[in-house]
Formats: sequence, C-alpha cells, structure tokens
Amino acid sequence: MRRLFKFASWTVLIAAVVLSLGITFTIGWRPVIGPRMRPTTNRKFESTPERLARGKYIFKFVAGCEDCHSPHDTTKPGMPITDGAEASGEEFLIDGVPAKLFAPNLTPDPETGVATWTDDELARAIREGVTREGRAMFPIMPYQNFHYMSDEDLASVVVYMRSLPAVKHALPESVVFAPVKYLIRDVPQPITASVPPPDSSTAAARGNYLARLAACNECHTPAKRGAPIPGMNFAGGFVMSGPWGSVATANITPDPSGISYYDENLFREVMRTGMVRARKLNELMPYNQYKGLTDGDISDIFAFLKTLKPVSHRVDNTETPTMCKKCGFKHGLGEKN
Ligand code: HEC
Ligand code: HEC
Repeated sequence: MRRLFKFASWTVLIAAVVLSLGITFTIGWRPVIGPRMRPTTNRKFESTPERLARGKYIFKFVAGCEDCHSPHDTTKPGMPITDGAEASGEEFLIDGVPAKLFAPNLTPDPETGVATWTDDELARAIREGVTREGRAMFPIMPYQNFHYMSDEDLASVVVYMRSLPAVKHALPESVVFAPVKYLIRDVPQPITASVPPPDSSTAAARGNYLARLAACNECHTPAKRGAPIPGMNFAGGFVMSGPWGSVATANITPDPSGISYYDENLFREVMRTGMVRARKLNELMPYNQYKGLTDGDISDIFAFLKTLKPVSHRVDNTETPTMCKKCGFKHGLGEKN
C-alpha cells in the first residue's frame, strides 16, 4: 500500500514537472497567473490647444477610436456614426470572434463613461491592453499597435477624450470565452520607459508610424487564430463578415497582384472616397475615417506602402469566393494563387 502510494506520488510529481516544462516552453504560465501589468500612477496630462487638436486628429481620423467606439446607423449607405452619439460605445459586431465585445463609452459621462477613470488608467488601457480592473483586453482593440504611440500622442488622445460631450449610454462588460480568455493574457505588454516621438526623418518612416496607429495590418495581413500568417504582410485575403456583408481585404503590397499600379493621386482618392475609379469599396475599409487625413499624411502612408515586400496574392471581391492555398481563406481568385 505504501509502495503503491510512493509510486503514485512519484508519478504525480513527474507528471507535474513534465507538465510545467511543457507549459513553460509552449505558452508559459501567463494563462494561469493573469496578464503582465504595471500599477497605475497619478500622472495627469495637462490640456493645451496643441494637444486638443492633435488628440482629435488621432482619435477621429488616424487611429479609428471614434469609429470603433461609436454606434453606427447600419440602415444608411456607408453606415455613418449615429449623430450625437460620438464615442459613446457600441457592440462590436464581427462574426467568428470567440467573445461578446463592447467597445466602451469613452465620453466623460459620470455613470456610463470614463469620467471617474484616472489619466493613467486610460493610458494603460490604450497602449498596454489591460482594463481598469486588470483584465487582458481582446486584441481587436488594437493596443498592440498603440503600444508604439508616443507619450505626447497618448497624452493628446486622453486630453481630447476629456473634452468630448458626455453621452449617457450604458453597455454591458465584454465577455471573452474560454479558453481564449486565458490565452490572450499573454498579449498585454507593460510600458515602463518613455516612448519618444516617432522617427520623422523620411516620408516612409512617418508613414510607417501612421499606418501602425491606423492598424492597416490588422485587416490587411491575413491571420489564423490571431497570429499573422508568415510572409503575408499586407497581402490581404482576410475574410471578415458582419453587418457590412462578407468581404476579403485587399493586397496592398507593391506587387502586380496588389497596388503596384497606384500613383499617389489614385491612393489619395481611394483613401478619401472609397472609390477605386469606378469600383466602390466595401464600407469595412474605413474611408469615412481616413477622409479626414491631411494630404501630407496620406502621401507618407503611400511612401511607406511602397517600401513593403511585394507579395504575389490575387484577391478580387467581384469574383465568386474560392479556396486559397496561400492564405487559407475563401476569396475571389483564391484558386488562382
Ligand atoms: C478596431 C476597433 C477599435 C479601435 C480602433 C479602438 N478600440 Fe478601444 N476597444 C475596442 C474594443 C472591442 C474594446 C473592448 C475590449 C475588451 O473588453 O476586451 C475596447 C476597449 C477600450 C478601452 C477600455 C478599457 C477598459 O477598461 O474597459 C479604452 C479606454 C479604449 N478602448 C480606448 C481606445 C482609444 C483611445 C482608441 C484609439 C486610440 C481605441 N480605443 C481604438 C475596439 C477598438
Ligand atoms: C477594418 C479593416 C480595414 C482597415 C483597418 C484598413 N482596411 Fe483597407 N481595405 C479593407 C477591405 C475589406 C478592403 C477591400 C474592400 C473591397 O474590395 O470592397 C480594403 C481595401 C483597401 C484598398 C483598395 C485596394 C484595391 O485597389 O482594391 C486600399 C488602397 C487600402 N484598403 C488601404 C488601406 C490602408 C493604407 C489602411 C491603413 C491606413 C487600411 N486600408 C486599413 C479593410 C481595411
């Protein structure tokens, strides 16, 4: 009996060691112990006219905060934001996500908005991906991209949010389903050093920063279970379904199957109107948001796109979807890849 017990306890011990090694070398202990996070501080971002203007520009036109965090009128063409409800939060409607997500009300309403949050609680949520209560956010909120936002831009965004008209709009808390709820605990990364202004020495470097805040990659790089497919950066084919229908993102690399034929004028027109000459793009492409970008910023983003590695990948939403071996999605011209 005792020998059996001894044997059993050894087995348990060995199993525990093997299991822990397995966990350490694969996904780590994060799913069990919760996301990495730092304690919040009592820093305050001072409001200045420059910060208000810059914050508004990023919030509305570059980073899409307003677009994701506002209710939309899905019955109108182009699905515009509901008048008077800007930034008051909305249910996030994208099919196939293992969660029920609500982009919260970011207006300074004392009961349903963020009036009682400290500046650093907002700052930590935006760039480091943990909620006020310390939950790892679902990374559809592009905090992995916002991780690169400079301290000054972050301060500007928070200052602008504080200036928004308060809108009363209560939404439930998001729920992320198991096991994904545990697996995403590995995504948030704390920031403990200062993030300086971005490299502005060349058009492509400035465009890279803007494209990061705009999260072009989140839609244009196809991903499987949240992980970008290697070698397919900005090569499109990611199929997304929701109130906008079902649509594959475009290949925006400088390949003949991508947008090598674009010049800067055509790019500016596409970004502002959602029209590629006579072809109308699906409203999932956020042209309603990008139409507020300055000419200079649009040129810089175009300069950045031209530095991308060309990837041969044909995607065409006007053709019947077929299986694509290259990205694993079913999209127009998929069988031609
Ligand atoms: C692609 C859509 C999208 C964009 C763009 C986006 N968000 Fe979010 N955001 C979300 C979703 C969805 C959640 C909820 C995630 C969750 O609960 O797991 C969220 C959560 C948040 C939170 C909540 C933290 C908490 O404690 O609940 C804050 C603050 C926030 N976003 C601010 C911003 C700001 C500021 C920007 C722009 C710089 C922005 N978001 C851009 C979708 C988005
Ligand atoms: C929320 C997802 C999303 C984001 C973010 C996004 N796009 Fe798109 N984009 C799309 C989809 C979907 C299409 C294809 C629409 C169609 O074919 O009807 C598209 C199409 C395009 C096209 C047209 C290509 C062509 O000629 O067919 C360009 C150019 C483009 N996007 C550039 C960008 C850039 C640059 C950014 C970042 C600044 C960006 N997109 C961000 C979803 C997105």
